[in-house]
Amino acid sequence: MKEKLENIKETALSKINEIKDLNKLEELRVKVLGKKGELTSVLRGMGKLSADERPEMGKLANQVRDEIEAAMGELKDDLEEKLKFQKMSLETLDITIQKELHKLGHRHPLMQTIEELENLFISMGFSVVVGPEVETVANNFDSLNSPKNHPSRDLSDTFYFNEELLLRTHTSPVQIRAMKEIGAPLRIVSSGRTFRPDAVDDTHSPMFHQLEGLVIDENVNMGNLMYTLNIFIKELFGEDIETRYRPHHFPFTEPSAEVDVSCLSCRGKGCETCSNTGWDMELLGCGMVHPNVLENCGIDSEKYSGFAFGMGIDRITMIKYGIPNIRLLFENDNRFLEQF
Ligand code: PHE
Repeated sequence: MKEKLENIKETALSKINEIKDLNKLEELRVKVLGKKGELTSVLRGMGKLSADERPEMGKLANQVRDEIEAAMGELKDDLEEKLKFQKMSLETLDITIQKELHKLGHRHPLMQTIEELENLFISMGFSVVVGPEVETVANNFDSLNSPKNHPSRDLSDTFYFNEELLLRTHTSPVQIRAMKEIGAPLRIVSSGRTFRPDAVDDTHSPMFHQLEGLVIDENVNMGNLMYTLNIFIKELFGEDIETRYRPHHFPFTEPSAEVDVSCLSCRGKGCETCSNTGWDMELLGCGMVHPNVLENCGIDSEKYSGFAFGMGIDRITMIKYGIPNIRLLFENDNRFLEQF
């Protein structure tokens, strides 16, 4: 029996030396010290010993158990400590570590153009107002003096919701809202999305952007209009850029004009881009507000006059940055957008 006990002690202690995790240690504890363990089964044999041997063996058995328990206890403390440190090292936050920061985006080139244009007009004393993209037929056409048979009213040229509501085809209905809500005198610009059922090609998109301007006051004339727009265009594209006012027709202005600017590629000398004309065509539409429009909005057309203009932001952005295809503005490909 003595040998058995010594044996149990030796093997237990040598195994303890090899153990590296708490589960294995618990397994060993059950195997040696548990109810059905090796030591327990030896102790059960004590009954068979003589009365002389019993105390000695009992003492030895207790010693063996104490030694094994002590060794196991020490190992358990060690392992638990190690586990704690392991966990702590996993949970540490290294604030010196260099991580790639979330990339911050920036404003879309169209929004940058809108902001630049609005800032230019703000510096000339204009206020910025906004209007809705879903408009009434009345604001988009009727109040703007557009005749009932005007081609722009066609189903094929306008997105209608019903007979009264549509997606605005231009920003001009904001003129109507401003005149009705603010009245004269007035100096506003307004920009935003506009919609026409155009097929997509390099220069057309069913959704595009416009910026609208309106000045109403006493004694406003065509000279004021041209002076204001010339300052604006030179500010935007450069002092050397010339403007050309071609007579045109809009129902809401009389007289009306379309404005061309000297070709930005060759600065007016003539090149491939401008087909050797020296001009970039139709940068904006403008004119003196039609008296009917003023009267439709409750403004006395005998006392007040005004000028208005509207331009395509997409086109200006494309000319400004040399973007050859309008699709690029709406595809949201980061490789394109990151360039601005
Ligand atoms: N609304 C016109 C268009 O979309 C532009 C314009 C605005 C013309 C204001 C004259 C005055 O083409």
